[in-house]
Amino acid sequence: GLPSRVTIWEVGARDGLQNESAVVPVSVKLEFLDRLADAGLTVLEATSFVHPKWVPQLADAAELLGGLERRDGVVYPVLVPNERGLDRALEAGVSHIAIFASATETFAGKNLNRTLAGQFEMFAPTVARALDAGLSVRGYVSMCFGDPWEGPVAASQVVEVGERLLEMGCSQLSLGDTIGVATPGQVEGLLARFGDVSSLAVHFHDTYGQALANTLAALRCGVTTVDSSAGGLGGCPYAESATGNLATEDLVWMLDGLGVETGVDLDKLVATSVWMAERLGRPSPSRVVRALGG
Ligand code: HMG
Ligand code: MG
Repeated sequence: GLPSRVTIWEVGARDGLQNESAVVPVSVKLEFLDRLADAGLTVLEATSFVHPKWVPQLADAAELLGGLERRDGVVYPVLVPNERGLDRALEAGVSHIAIFASATETFAGKNLNRTLAGQFEMFAPTVARALDAGLSVRGYVSMCFGDPWEGPVAASQVVEVGERLLEMGCSQLSLGDTIGVATPGQVEGLLARFGDVSSLAVHFHDTYGQALANTLAALRCGVTTVDSSAGGLGGCPYAESATGNLATEDLVWMLDGLGVETGVDLDKLVATSVWMAERLGRPSPSRVVRALGG
């Protein structure tokens, strides 16, 4: 069966914009977030408190949160890799953070400048302090299906990393197909290895056009939180061959058709992505935005 309702974890302002070569002004980011809330999205991942030299596109995180008009019923999670990031996030008044781990040794090095084991030493005190401060903490696991340097990734490795994050106190795990290579059978296989899916979310990139099929497979396994990015913006600056996330419009079109509630107004969302595409100077890769946005 399918869930009657799905929570969309909108990552466009973070996963989307972190990968844009153009510098997007804070005012445009704020309007983007506001329009996404207007369209009915209730989880808006806003930015990252990472090292500004590593992701210059999000170096304006403090200014962005300072200018944000938070709405009732909407949460604005931010990525935080370490205690320095947490300090900055707390100063900005956040209530929800996400740490981001790698399932592979190579990507831990490239994305976090840590070994696979070393990443946990960075996360443990960060999560402990965040929980003490009353924050909600999500844990991402990247490269859950394949890694551009290491090839296929064993499910056992993903489960091991994910369970460590849950033990640290993460309330939700987001399983990332960072480079978009997974197919539905692998998704079912990985979710089965976890057993209990109640604290799992899925995060697909659409590099090989599999993101929607993978999402449907995950929903059939009982997952009810899906990450996506308005207009299909996105990628990861530290992963070769990572292209855009699953487009939120494509997801909403499928869920509307299946009778699964999301609370999202598709027309408002498409208009937002058309507007953003104009700001970025190139068309949205989303099929639904192209079909409806003309
Ligand atoms: P590092 O160089 O090892 O940092 O980078 P460090 O701990 O050695 O500290 C060096 C200096 O940086 C120090 O300053 C720190 O204070 C400063 P100094 O004492 O030399 O003056 N520093 C910071 N400054 C501001 N904010 C911070 C911060 N941390 C340290 N947070 C680090 C380690 C983790 C910081 C770095 O590797 C980093 O920022 N990485 C982030 C990479 C990133 O954002 N990648 C994209 C997100 S992940 C993704 O997209 C995947 C996902 O979508 C899921 C999927 O698709 O799979 C989530
Ligand atoms: Mg991603």
